[in-house]
Amino acid sequence: MIPENTGPAAVIVLAAGAGTRMKSRTPKILHEIGGRSMVGHALLAARSINPRQLAIVVRHERDLVARHLSELDPAAVIVDQDEIPGTGRAVEVALQALDGEQHLTGTVVVTYGDVPLLSGQLLAELVATHEREANAVTVLTAVLDDATGYGRILRGDDGTVTGIVEHKDASDAQRLIGEVNSGIYAFDAAVLRDALTHVTTDNSQGEKYLTDVLGLARQAGGRVAAVVTADRWQVEGANDRVQLSALGAELNRRIVEAWMRAGVTVVDPATTWIDSSVTLDEDVRILPNTQLHGATTVARDAVVGPDTTLTDVTIGEGAKVVRTHGSGAIIGPDAAVGPFTYLRPGTVLGESGKIGAFYETKNVTIGRGSKLSHLGYAGDAEIGEDTNIGCGNITANYDGDKKHRTVIGSGVRTGSNTVFVAPVTVGDGAYSGAGAVIRKDVPAGALALTVAAQSNTEGWVAANRPGTRSAELAQAATTDSSSTPASTEEGNQ
Ligand code: UD1
Ligand code: CA
Repeated sequence: MIPENTGPAAVIVLAAGAGTRMKSRTPKILHEIGGRSMVGHALLAARSINPRQLAIVVRHERDLVARHLSELDPAAVIVDQDEIPGTGRAVEVALQALDGEQHLTGTVVVTYGDVPLLSGQLLAELVATHEREANAVTVLTAVLDDATGYGRILRGDDGTVTGIVEHKDASDAQRLIGEVNSGIYAFDAAVLRDALTHVTTDNSQGEKYLTDVLGLARQAGGRVAAVVTADRWQVEGANDRVQLSALGAELNRRIVEAWMRAGVTVVDPATTWIDSSVTLDEDVRILPNTQLHGATTVARDAVVGPDTTLTDVTIGEGAKVVRTHGSGAIIGPDAAVGPFTYLRPGTVLGESGKIGAFYETKNVTIGRGSKLSHLGYAGDAEIGEDTNIGCGNITANYDGDKKHRTVIGSGVRTGSNTVFVAPVTVGDGAYSGAGAVIRKDVPAGALALTVAAQSNTEGWVAANRPGTRSAELAQAATTDSSSTPASTEEGNQ
């Protein structure tokens, strides 16, 4: 046996169904919760028990589904179901595809592509029970208040599982049974293979039912048993968008709770959405209305939110990210972002740096301690350390055809409304005046000014806007200067 594949012989994931109740152009199992497709969740659970082989049965929207699967799990064997309908047929074609020169032996697990909350742990428990008890079939079941639509578990007087009857084929008495078939099983491969040859389509739906294998296995002398889970969410499938959102909310509730137990403060779990792929350190604080997606990671003591949506963002220790929309960015330790900040891919903010209110950034590396505090755009740029970018600065990186780079050194101070017309370089310690349009490189330590000298035309308002409120006030200010000290004040900002 290959040591790393210590799990069952195979997992077969069923995913050929149409999912018409989704009313979607997207195949059902490609719909996402927690930042991952439903089938992505199913594959992760299946992989977590280390099967020697993994097969997934497809048919509806075959090409779209197959493309998605080969991205997610290139080693999974994609099996096409034929015209014969039913879960039994789906498993039969998968077994045929997996059986090589030698028929596979041992445990074969069957799961569904549309049951996203099933955990690897519960699946492992099912396999362990199955193998410990040397069962022919072990079915995962749950007891539901409303079992409508599900196959019901039939048990003998001594409690042993005798079979499964589908809702549509069940008698009124059988429909009162609350224990349902989850559709998730562990089978002995040889029993399964043999039983499937005897399964017919002689039922109300004209399908080859996998559920018939249980009765057949018993008739052949095998032991059939059930693992009953108290966690109904783990066996629930999503057939429509109402169920999809309910499962998504429950998954999120579980993820958020797990992070809180791991030492993360989540002020409002109800408005905090965290993808299963996100990682958070102890003592991170998440404020209300925050969504963390993709490969986002947040280091210790950082505070994120409120009202923040981040995808694939790396946040350093002690950083603060407030009311920010960001993707593909790296925020350094003790840095500050927001409020009202738009971080686009390639933004790298150094330690203790700042990107403040109403700033958009893209493809920009900002050195340690540098600040872009308010109102501007920085794109395709590199900014050194301890530089202060004034209010309203813009890198004019696009000439209408190509993008160009702006390089700004360390210790730079730029005046308000400076425009950097890229490509352009500003040396260390340089200054720019308010409103400067930097078209030429600025040497280190230089002051760059581009504005024309200011001229004041005295009496212009009285001459050109007579009778206006401005003219009236100007008149009062110039004739009675002793009573209007404000007019002589200097240095007003
Ligand atoms: C099936 C079970 C039922 C169980 C229920 C749990 C059978 C006969 N019935 O019923 O006992 O309570 O699941 O949800 O197995 N699929 C294929 N190929 C097919 C048909 C289905 O791959 O030909 C896949 C579907 O994509 C889906 C799963 O199998 O992932 C279940 O199919 P579905 O039609 O939903 O089965 P149910 O009738 O709900
Ligand atoms: Ca179903």
